[in-house]
Amino acid sequence: MHVFRCIRESCGAAYPLAENIHTCPRCGGLLDVEYAFDREAAAQWPALWSGRRASLRKLDSSGVWRFRELIPFISEPESAELVATLGEGNTPLLDSAAAAGFAGLDAIRFKHQGFNPTGSFKDNGMTCGVTRARALGMRLVGCVSTGNTSASMAAYASYAGLVPVVFIPHGEIALGKLAQALEYGAVTFQVEANFDQILRLIFRMAESLGLYLLNSVNPFRLEGQKTIMAELLEQCGWREPDWIVLPGGNLGNVSAFGKGLRELRDLGLIRRLPRLAVIQAEGAAPLCRMMESAAAELRPVERPQTLATAIKIGAPVSWPKAVRELRASGGVCVAVSEQEIADAKAVIGRAGIGCEPASAATLAGARKLRAAGVVGPDQDVVAILTGHLLKDPDYILRYHAGELECGGRPLESRLANRPRIVAAEAAALEAALREATGDRLTAGG
Ligand code: F0G
Repeated sequence: MHVFRCIRESCGAAYPLAENIHTCPRCGGLLDVEYAFDREAAAQWPALWSGRRASLRKLDSSGVWRFRELIPFISEPESAELVATLGEGNTPLLDSAAAAGFAGLDAIRFKHQGFNPTGSFKDNGMTCGVTRARALGMRLVGCVSTGNTSASMAAYASYAGLVPVVFIPHGEIALGKLAQALEYGAVTFQVEANFDQILRLIFRMAESLGLYLLNSVNPFRLEGQKTIMAELLEQCGWREPDWIVLPGGNLGNVSAFGKGLRELRDLGLIRRLPRLAVIQAEGAAPLCRMMESAAAELRPVERPQTLATAIKIGAPVSWPKAVRELRASGGVCVAVSEQEIADAKAVIGRAGIGCEPASAATLAGARKLRAAGVVGPDQDVVAILTGHLLKDPDYILRYHAGELECGGRPLESRLANRPRIVAAEAAALEAALREATGDRLTAGG
């Protein structure tokens, strides 16, 4: 039978999936969704999944529900009606010689979750979260967000006929994300506090407000996000990469990836676990500090600071799950500076790939791990780009104008690309074009 299972070793309580709970009613611990998989059948699943790529059925066109044997919290006849899908997943795996060179690696591949319907990996989770809300008959759904979760929830909830309510830190989320929440029709509250403070408040109030909470403490969100690993492994021909590098904020994604990979291994679909590397911004790195000091508990960062606002989080809710997955996979956590993030982001942009600031922490982190000798030059590294470049246009324009600063400290714009103002006159245009492109043409691009 499929159940909720409390992840605390001292508790381990199980509850039927029919219950509407997010955390363990007995001890307050985080919950996993635990399935009784049919291990015998699993050997056939990769063929089934790849066969569905040719299908035009709604469920098969989703890069999450195509892998539905891995997320059987809803039975198939039901799911056709209940599933809220915008065609999420199906994201590309892109390589870049320039990015690899920057990191000191022979090669690096980017799994770009920014290609999702609302431009972030949250869509992979939200299709499951909103489907679950529908299955429970909930009408009002809510989340606290640094921007991407709110954009994604707004879209999926409105599409499914539910009412989305978002709580975001006032003035601290990227413009593209706020614009999405408004356009997708979310009731939007800009709360005068930081993400951690708002989450604490709303978590306490959700039930009395009648809100179905769709933050990543909701285990069904993580069930959707774990399918990113199935899709990645399929793209890798079921050959495990050595490393999977991802940014860490509230630590839901690393928890989802770790669980997904362990399940694939236990089902015999992969032989070993890739090592997970979580990258945090220096000003918001509570997990890195915890791992460095070998502490038993996470000590929150009171005033997190980073221009990568998506991961500006000091008290990540899912840290116990994250620690479990880092231990299981021999993983690591590394902090990178604002300058390192800015440099890496510009390299990813110049490669024609592009991403939002938090996502670029992955390349900065891979470079740091390579320099420290933790990652070998010929190891197979996949970095997860979590959000689309257009999420945060303000950061980009400031970077290219040489105006980025964090905490009063200016950042260097090493790959600044400034627009040129030119007269509407043929000779001037021609001269300006020759001057601007000459070097790049002789350098081969
Ligand atoms: N990258 C991006 C672009 C994000 O939006 C987030 C989280 C992360 C990385 C970190 O993922 O929290 O699972 O460790 N954004 C959340 C939000 C918190 O509200 O949109 P995580």
